Amino acid sequence: MSQSEQLQSFMNNYQQRVNLALENCLQVMPCPDPKLDEAMHYSLTGDGKRIRPILVYAAGNATGSSDKQLDIAACAVEMIHAFSLIHDDLPAMDDDDLRRGRATCHKAFDEATAILAGDALQTMAFEILSSGDTHLSSEQRLKMISQLARATGAQGMTGGQAIDLAAVGSDLSLQQLEAMHSLKTGALIRASVLLGGLCNPEITDAELDMLDQYAACIGLCFQIQDDILDVIGDTETLGKPQGSDQQQAKPTYPALLGLEAAKQRAQEQHDMAIEHLAPLGEKANTLRQIADYIIKRNF
Ligand code: IPE
Ligand code: IPE
Ligand code: MG
Ligand code: MG
Ligand code: MG
Repeated sequence: MSQSEQLQSFMNNYQQRVNLALENCLQVMPCPDPKLDEAMHYSLTGDGKRIRPILVYAAGNATGSSDKQLDIAACAVEMIHAFSLIHDDLPAMDDDDLRRGRATCHKAFDEATAILAGDALQTMAFEILSSGDTHLSSEQRLKMISQLARATGAQGMTGGQAIDLAAVGSDLSLQQLEAMHSLKTGALIRASVLLGGLCNPEITDAELDMLDQYAACIGLCFQIQDDILDVIGDTETLGKPQGSDQQQAKPTYPALLGLEAAKQRAQEQHDMAIEHLAPLGEKANTLRQIADYIIKRNF
């Protein structure tokens, strides 16, 4: 099997695994309001790449955790991601109508339901981390909750989204753009990798630090590639509207640097990510393949 076939098979396997685990979470924690319940299902189980759960499993596998130990962390990061997408698409934010090849949550339901579905998915992530069925100790859970909360809040994704909105139509410096991307997208990708690592109580600070440096690079790389695909992708393949950034004068890498320089920045981040994994040896092969996938993907 080639490296990309190996990764494809890893991704298929864990996409299926996390999809079942997510369905299970929704089933055991039903919402008494049928409309909200349906909106939560709609947005959480839609056709996404599941790259954040996949990073949880890949980082966990590389550092000695079992899939069973990793399931709740994988579900939690996807719940936070689904919440962030629902709110990102709202009229008050990016005002997009298409997500994962179908109507965005506020279009399929209504704005109030979309806001509430986001709220409910966010809190569900912390509920499963604190009380889900797992062998993790209280101390491990607390560390994971703390990492995920920071990555989601004002010092992470939410803060990055605020900078994104405030910057519409203005010129950010490269340093400001990088800081914004590292928060709005990088923070949750970092948390995904770290939560995977934290599932092993024996993990050392040095290993966590190495994972964190890798994740910071691929997190930034992921958003640069997302910006690039907004320019060169097509709506059908992306499952979301191509050209949305340009239309709204969003601060992006291609807008600031041009397409070629943006691709070069993504490649640089990819290369640095790979360098950070060197001490982990062969155990980190899947994490390396994911870094390759992030800059080669076309959706
Ligand atoms: C889209 O994330 C939003 C960003 C943070 C760039 P993904 O590209 O991971 O979206 P899905 O989950 O595959 O739909
Ligand atoms: C989204 O960035 C970051 C999030 C926190 C959701 P974008 O606004 O570029 O994501 P897409 O392109 O709509 O998926
Ligand atoms: Mg946005
Ligand atoms: Mg958007
Ligand atoms: Mg985008």
